[in-house]
Amino acid sequence: MPTFAVILPAAGSSSRFGDPRRKKPFIELKGRPVWVRAVELFLSRDDVVQTLIVLPSDEIEFFREKFRANLAFMNVEIVAGGASRAESVQNALARVRADVEFVAVHDAARPLIVKAWIADVFDAAIAHGAAIPAVPISSTVKRVSRDKRIEETVPREGLWAAQTPQVARRDWLLEAFAKRGDFQATDEAQLLERTGRSVAIVEGSPLNLKITTREDFRMAEALVDALPREKTLGALHPFADERFL
Ligand code: CTP
Ligand code: MG
Repeated sequence: MPTFAVILPAAGSSSRFGDPRRKKPFIELKGRPVWVRAVELFLSRDDVVQTLIVLPSDEIEFFREKFRANLAFMNVEIVAGGASRAESVQNALARVRADVEFVAVHDAARPLIVKAWIADVFDAAIAHGAAIPAVPISSTVKRVSRDKRIEETVPREGLWAAQTPQVARRDWLLEAFAKRGDFQATDEAQLLERTGRSVAIVEGSPLNLKITTREDFRMAEALVDALPREKTLGALHPFADERFL
């Protein structure tokens, strides 16, 4: 069985979230912190052998204190982040065990993940070396100037919006990050593309949203109970949170 490490970048500043007192991964979403929802379904997989969360270095103590109860039940390593997402992921990648074959990077700000979507992208990574979930863009896309005038319509043919978890062979990711220089990629696939690796696309779900703004958070609250459920065992446990079954 191929083995996986999971990296959960949570070291951003939540600047677009617009609440200077609270960062989005640490807020409660319907009774459970966003970061806990983002990571817990990875922890329940037998092939996930290492999990790392990346935090702002000046908030590690706060995090250990605030989430002591959650952490007691989870085998999660804490890593100090960097100024950009790429640096944060790179710091964690350096701590991934050498015997691990694949690395999955999943935004701490994507709490609406379900087991089946994780399984699909893990399977595709095993088959192709690297895979990410993405959704075809359905809107008409405009390039807009700073003074908010349309410059052009970008043909949406072949345009997909990338999501996480982004999964790749550990050796491919290490190579891609080693050649990064100070290029600020916004996802791992972009670095793999630059090193000539082919990344497979798995059609994802628009429900796997990333919380960027307060509106996204409200949307996530509305959607959390509307996620696809695993039917078979649901009937046996009518009161359980069926995402765990
Ligand atoms: N992230 C990180 N380290 C950084 C920047 C981002 O680990 N230096 C993480 C964020 O915590 C988040 C994920 O990468 O889970 C996706 O980034 P984004 O949605 O942009 O979050 P922030 O950078 O925190 O938000 P903003 O860009 O609005 O400041
Ligand atoms: Mg950001």
